[in-house]
Amino acid sequence: MLALRSASRSTASRVGLRLKSTKVAVLGASGGIGQPLALLCKLSENIDEVACYDVAPVLPGVAADLSHCPTGAKITGHLPSSGAWPPTHDKGLEAAVSGADVIVIPAGVPRKPGMTRDDLFNTNAGIVKTLVEGCGKFAPDAVLAIISNPVNSTVPIAAEVLKKLGVYNKNKLCGVTTLDVCRANTFLAANQGKHPKEIVTVIGGHAGITILPLLSQVPGTTLSAADRDALTHRIQFGGDEVVKAKAGGGSATLSMAYAGYLFTEGVIKGLKGESVTQCAYVESSLTEARFFASPCKFGKGGVEEVLPFGELSAYEKGWFDKMLPELKAQIKKGEDFANQ
Ligand code: LMR
Repeated sequence: MLALRSASRSTASRVGLRLKSTKVAVLGASGGIGQPLALLCKLSENIDEVACYDVAPVLPGVAADLSHCPTGAKITGHLPSSGAWPPTHDKGLEAAVSGADVIVIPAGVPRKPGMTRDDLFNTNAGIVKTLVEGCGKFAPDAVLAIISNPVNSTVPIAAEVLKKLGVYNKNKLCGVTTLDVCRANTFLAANQGKHPKEIVTVIGGHAGITILPLLSQVPGTTLSAADRDALTHRIQFGGDEVVKAKAGGGSATLSMAYAGYLFTEGVIKGLKGESVTQCAYVESSLTEARFFASPCKFGKGGVEEVLPFGELSAYEKGWFDKMLPELKAQIKKGEDFANQ
């Protein structure tokens, strides 16, 4: 793959072409998710530059550390310009996001045991709003991939912020729900004694009962009602399992970094012209909820098509009906915050 990439680069330089390089910015790059996410991006053959941004003073050290890995991607590190948080014109943020194709945002605080993702709203909503304002000003064409919780509300916040700036493109704003798909594949495979594969579609949102795995649609799998119930619950509350096990030390970081990286790779492949289908929490008219996670076709323009999620079993329809009011309320909470 590396050889292929260098070959096409040298062919391009012989004929005087410049290949468009691919830049990913990670906002919150020195956090528990940000560091392994930036590392995975540094290892990627599809990424030429990883711009790391954080308010934590350790950020230049994280960037220096990453930069010693002998791979092709260039690492840059950016702190906010001095005294600039919340920034009126944060030159660090501007440098990090300018020219980025994809901006991944894991910034914010994690849950402690007993908290829901919504309990993070008061802290993380403002962080996401400020960062997305910078993205809208300095990188209006980038695809934004939001990881910061509560995703069900932070994505609507981002949409409203971008709308106010006049740069909202619903095909370029996504909440990352890939970890729900990873968990669904892992837990189902363990139940079936098989190797995990990309097979389960997970729809809805990214919190508790708004997460709905469509286990009835997995080909060649018949589950007992007890297994179906237990698996559905475990996928919906997989995040809580990690929060509890970390006992006050935060929430999922490594699996979330892996999921964020997988999602980013899918988006980049799409931008480069491949057709990639992956689940994402995006604006759509599929349901009564303005934002809804569903399989999406990614291409050169970001989300090129939101695909219907197929027929639900009676059991899944029960969860779907329970989920919608909760999801709609969390979306409204985000919209109201951004517009207050
Ligand atoms: C997860 O799904 O693990 C993340 O959203 C973090 C959390 O708070 O559960």
